[in-house]
Amino acid sequence: MIDLQGKKALITGAGRGLGRGMATGLYKAGAEIVILDILEDVFKTSAEMEENGAKVHSIICDLSNRENRIEGFEKALELLGGKIDILVNAAGIIDRFPAIDLPMETWDKVLEVNLTAVMDLSRLAARQMVPQKSGKIINVASMHSFFGGFNVTTYASSKGGVAQLTKALSNQLAIDGIQVNAIAPGFIQSFMTSHHEEDPELYAQLMSRIPTGRLGQPEDLEGITMFLASNLSNYITGTVIPVDGGYLVR
Ligand SMILES: NC(=O)c1ccc[n+]([C@@H]2O[C@H](COP(=O)([O-])OP(=O)(O)OC[C@H]3O[C@@H](n4cnc5c(N)ncnc54)[C@H](O)[C@@H]3O)[C@@H](O)[C@H]2O)c1
Repeated sequence: MIDLQGKKALITGAGRGLGRGMATGLYKAGAEIVILDILEDVFKTSAEMEENGAKVHSIICDLSNRENRIEGFEKALELLGGKIDILVNAAGIIDRFPAIDLPMETWDKVLEVNLTAVMDLSRLAARQMVPQKSGKIINVASMHSFFGGFNVTTYASSKGGVAQLTKALSNQLAIDGIQVNAIAPGFIQSFMTSHHEEDPELYAQLMSRIPTGRLGQPEDLEGITMFLASNLSNYITGTVIPVDGGYLVR
C-alpha cells in the first residue's frame, strides 16, 4: 500500500548507519532520493543502492558549515528537478565528555549539526513544500530526547531540541499539508554505538533493558520511514515515535 513513486527525497547522513537504512526504505517504496553526507562513503553507498534499482544521487556536504549546507540543499533540489516531497534529517554526531571538561567548540559543533542544521534544512524544504501544499519532514531524535544520559551533555541537549523543534514546526506547517515527525531510535548497531559492544559490562547492561532482546539494525528503520513519508500518515504530525525494541517503557 505504500507507494512513493514520483516522490522526491533528501536524506542527510545517509552515507552509512541509520540514515542509510532510512534512505533504503524510501527508494524501496519508489522515491527518487538524494543522499547527503560529509563522508566519501556516500558515493559507494549510492553505487550499491543503484545496483539494487534505486533512483539515487549523492552529495558531499558538511552540515556544520552554514554556507556549505545551503549549497548542499540547493544542489539536492536541482538534482531532484526542483521539487522536494520528503526531508529526512538523519545526520548526527555525539560528544562524550563530563560536562565540566566539555570543550565549548564541541558544544557548538554538535548543536550545529544535530539541531541547527535540522532547523535550517527544514526551513529550506518547507519553503518548497508550502506552495505545493504537501510534504513530509522526518527528524531523528533519540532516547536522549527523553533521558539526560551520562557524559553526553550536548548530544542529549540537541536531541531534546530535535523533539521540541519537531513539535514547533509541525504546529506551523500542518495547515499547509506538511507533516513533521521524529523517530526516536533505541540502540541501533552503527558506528556511533560500536563502543557499546567493545565494553562487555555496558553491553550486558544495555541488553538487559531491551525487551526485544537484541540491538536494532538500520533496516529496522525502513518501515517507519516509509510510513511517515507516505499518505498513510497524513493525519500524524508532531510526534516522536520510539523505534527501540521496547527500551523506553522498560
Ligand atoms: N545508533 C543509534 O543507536 C542511534 C540512536 C538514536 C539516534 N541516533 C541518531 O541517528 C542518526 C544517525 O546515527 P548513526 O548511529 O547511524 O551514526 P553514524 O555515525 O553511522 O551516522 C551518522 C552519519 O552522519 C554523517 N555526518 C556527521 N556529521 C556530518 C556533517 N557535518 N555533515 C554531513 N553529514 C554528517 C556521518 O558522516 C554519518 O554518515 C544520528 O542523528 C544519531 O544521533 C542513533
